[in-house]
This record gives sequence, structure tokens and C-alpha cells, in this order.
Amino acid sequence: MALAIGVDIGGTKVAAGLVDEQGGIVASARRDTPSHDPARIEEIIADVVRELQASHEVEAVGIGAAGFVDAARSTVVFAPNLAWRDEPLRVNVEKRCGLPVVVENDANAAAWAEARFGAGRGQQYVVVLTVGTGLGGGLVTGGELYRGRQGIAAEFGHVTVEPGGRRCGCGGRGCWERYASGRALILEAQELATVSPAIAGRLLELAGGRPEAITGLHVTRAAQDGDEAALEAFRVIGTWLGQGMAALTAVLDPELFVLGGGVSAAGELLREPAERSLQERITARAYRQVPAVRLAEFGPEAGIVGAADLARRR
Ligand code: BGC
Ligand code: NA
Ligand code: ZN
Repeated sequence: MALAIGVDIGGTKVAAGLVDEQGGIVASARRDTPSHDPARIEEIIADVVRELQASHEVEAVGIGAAGFVDAARSTVVFAPNLAWRDEPLRVNVEKRCGLPVVVENDANAAAWAEARFGAGRGQQYVVVLTVGTGLGGGLVTGGELYRGRQGIAAEFGHVTVEPGGRRCGCGGRGCWERYASGRALILEAQELATVSPAIAGRLLELAGGRPEAITGLHVTRAAQDGDEAALEAFRVIGTWLGQGMAALTAVLDPELFVLGGGVSAAGELLREPAERSLQERITARAYRQVPAVRLAEFGPEAGIVGAADLARRR
């Protein structure tokens, strides 16, 4: 059986898996990324590959990277939330691992997994949004990833939704990912806990009483326990998501949106307000079919599965 390794590199962690031909994860490995130094991250990638290779025969490595990847699927040209600038990731990792490597944008890799094996199976027009440190986008139409002229299409997270708004790692302001991402969720929850501690009891309890210590997991936990502030934070993020999905629908007319990334582990807490806000804001609602909104079947693992499959088909 042909096994490939998929590696997902986000803002805070490197997650890898040994993936079979049906998209099943046979083994996995994970490391925190203590530094954003490109050489250090490449070392960590080589390390997880070695770990997964130890017990199995591996034919290729796919890397899903949180940044703009060139059309040759080799170089990370720019990464808003990491230190990569024209980083020749493929060559550097091939040198360290001695295996063929394919680099793909992390959200494109997730989109590929969901369209091929997951929530978008059998659908022709699929948009995947990965809600994590940033907001990633991927578009699969007719069984192909849409990459654009230079390989860097579907950077939906950097569409301006609030002119002059929050600063973004890309150098701009008011980008969608500053309002609809894991970071935005935390920001919202911290602000709510600061100004309205009376409705944030459980949230503050989880964070040891300190709003600035609130993490994404705290927000999910507290929301599951019925904390009003945490629920409101999810509603705010979901509403921003739905608003952007309505705009994307006007451009792309997809049949399905799939929500993935770390925050999608919160399930309906995220999906439900996103779907509601999409339905409220979509243009010509009475005269069209509204795209479905589903959670990623592979959840936060979609990037790993997709990267591995893309490497196998290189
Ligand atoms: C980056 C994308 C990436 C997304 C999710 C965004 O900030 O521009 O390339 O896919 O974050 O990691
Ligand atoms: Na993308
Ligand atoms: Zn931006």
C-alpha cells in the first residue's frame, strides 16, 4: 500500500500524519513551533518525517503551509503569520529527508482532502474555509484545485471586510481573517470578559480569572458549558464568517461551504451562526439556491490528509 506523509504547518504547531490511499491517517506526530525561524521549522518537519518513516515505507511528503505558495508548489513566497519570505521549502526539506516533497497552501490542501474524501465528496463547486490562527481558503471546482495565475488564488482571508479596521499580518487593514479566525475569537472573548465579567463567569474561571489568559480552548469549553460571553464570541465570529460567505457566493456561486481548521472542532457553535448569517445576507435569496454549510469531516486534520494525497499524485 502506498503511504505518504502529510505535514500541516500553522501559526503555532506542526502536525503530521502517515496517510493511506483512502485518506485514512495511519499514524500521527505533532510538535509545537517555539520559533518562527524558517530553518528551525524545516528541522522540525524533518524530525516528524523521520518519526513517521521509522515504522513504514513512505513514497512522498506533502506540506501544507500557512502562506502563499508558488505555482511550482515549491516556494512559500509570503506568509502573513509566519517568517517565510521566498522560502525554498521544497528543496530544503528534500535535502533533509531524501524524499520527494510537494508544498501546497494549507487551506488548499484541506480543501483537496474535503472535496476528494470528506464533506465535499461528489460536489462540483466546493469552497473550504479553514478557521485557525488565520482564515484560509480553498476552491475546488470540477475535481481541480483553483490556483490562479501564480498559485496564490483563494486567499479569502485577506479580502477587506472593514476598511481601516484591525491591522493584519499581511500589512493591510480590515482583512476578513482579523474578524473571523481563532485569533479573532480569542480577542472577542477577552474583550467581553473584560467589559462584561458578569456574563463571563465560566470563561474567567477557566482562565484563572485573567481575561488576557483566555485561549481558544477556553472559549469552546465555556460555550459548551453555556457561558454567555463565550457563546456571544462564537456568534460574532460566525456572523463575520457568514457575511463573507455571502460575498463569496456572489462571486463564485458554490454549492457548498466547508468549515475546517482548529476552530471547527467547536462544531455547531461555529457552523450554526455562520449558516444563519449567510442566509440573512445572501443576494437574491428568494431566487436562488443557498449553498450548504458543513463542518469539515477531517476537522483540523484535513490539511494533513490533503497534503499527503497531493504528494502521492505529484
Ligand atoms: C494565509 C493563508 C493561509 C491561512 C490559514 C492566512 O493568513 O494568508 O495562506 O492559508 O492564513 O493558515
Ligand atoms: Na488557499
Ligand atoms: Zn491581511
